[in-house]
Amino acid sequence: MVRTAGKQKSVRLVLVCVGLLGFGVIANYLWASSPRLSNWSVDNSLTNLIIPRTEDPFSDATFPAPKGEADKGKKKKKGKDKDIPDRFLSATFADLPAPELKWDKMAPAPVPRLDGAAIQIKNLLYVFAGYGTIDYVHSHVDIYNFTDNTWGGRFDMPKEMAHSHLGMVTDGRYIYIVTGQYGPQCRGPTARTFVLDTETKQWRDMLPLPVPRYAPATQLWRGRLHVMGGSKENRHTPAFEHWSLAVKDGKALENEWRTEIPIPRGGPHRACVVFDDRLYIIGGQEGDFMAKPGSPIFKCSRRNEVVFDNVYMLDDDMKWKALPPMPKPDSHIEFAWVIVNNSLVIVGGTTDKHPITKRMVLVGEVFQFNLVTLKWSVIGKLPYRVKTTLVGLWNGWLYFTSGQRDRGPDDPTPKKVIGEMWRTKLKLNS
Ligand SMILES: *[C@@H]1O[C@H](CO)[C@@H](O)[C@H](O)[C@H]1NC(C)=O
Ligand SMILES: *[C@@H]1O[C@H](CO)[C@@H](O)[C@H](O)[C@H]1NC(C)=O
Repeated sequence: MVRTAGKQKSVRLVLVCVGLLGFGVIANYLWASSPRLSNWSVDNSLTNLIIPRTEDPFSDATFPAPKGEADKGKKKKKGKDKDIPDRFLSATFADLPAPELKWDKMAPAPVPRLDGAAIQIKNLLYVFAGYGTIDYVHSHVDIYNFTDNTWGGRFDMPKEMAHSHLGMVTDGRYIYIVTGQYGPQCRGPTARTFVLDTETKQWRDMLPLPVPRYAPATQLWRGRLHVMGGSKENRHTPAFEHWSLAVKDGKALENEWRTEIPIPRGGPHRACVVFDDRLYIIGGQEGDFMAKPGSPIFKCSRRNEVVFDNVYMLDDDMKWKALPPMPKPDSHIEFAWVIVNNSLVIVGGTTDKHPITKRMVLVGEVFQFNLVTLKWSVIGKLPYRVKTTLVGLWNGWLYFTSGQRDRGPDDPTPKKVIGEMWRTKLKLNS
């Protein structure tokens, strides 16, 4: 949008700042008076109040109450700036039409988790790590048994293993766990890499990544463990590097990571799958929350993010090919998918921020990508919008658990970290 009236602009900026300050104070009050939320801290610093896109991590609580705010924004802008459309964009503008699905609520996970990781092996869903709150991270594994629909089998992770933003993949017995964020808030990453033998529950160390990453795309392809993209060490800067390592039965067969063709767009939180001997990366984003400079607790502060709808594929040519994009940009989907028959199914995520309020917008749909016809479709609605879901499939049932859900049908911004488990009978489009 082109703006010429500089004076008007600065007056408006001041008004906006005052408004935001008011919201910040109210938010802080609401926050402090709500015991349920009290362990999620609010960042009230001036920086937060003058840069609209900087807000409390995960909870989005620094800018609550979009209802009144929406109307105010409309009135203020109208008449003063012809570039801004008259019609106010509803908070739910990003929702796509989707069939209703019947969801069954199953037993909740022992703990809620955000940015956890999950791997399904046969009838078991291994659920790892994650934030319980912004100040507390889990360091254990819970297991969901799809046969009797119960949780159990909790065991500890190695102390040195990352707690969120992990790269993770399995060969059906061994689970490879690569890099990730170590600790709560927006702490630094570790390059440490581990292998879990799910039959013996033994952990083993493996060759660390050359440098640590946050939430890199991770897959096994043609006997090699591939690790791509993610965020760099500051949590925000997109990384393009792509490495691989020959592995077998939970062991590295080489002493160093091989440098492979970089990914076309860098960044974390993508789905990464192998189907019919091709490697795919789907969605994701550039940018992420990062630690506030000088903060002793590495307090998270929001930074600009660009969410991707891109799909890239690598085959024999070892050149990335662009495939048809997703129905909308989608990120935080690294463990939010399953492959069923010839299709990839993706559950929830985050999409582009709201263009006016700048608030984070969650995704409430289930997507199907037919990996043969390369057609995307929207195959259903979730019980609510939710990001960083952990997904499994058993006997035709699609399951999801964990993540962070929205504030309600009219408010797609993130709020509660959940442990709920849901399932629906999966119906694919042909
Ligand atoms: C999963 O549940 C089934 C049915 O109760 C049981 O036979 C099986 O041993 C369970 N698996 C694990 C690993 O607990
Ligand atoms: C996958 O294919 C099998 C065999 O054709 C079919 O029975 C099943 O219903 C399909 N699954 C889904 C979710 O459509």
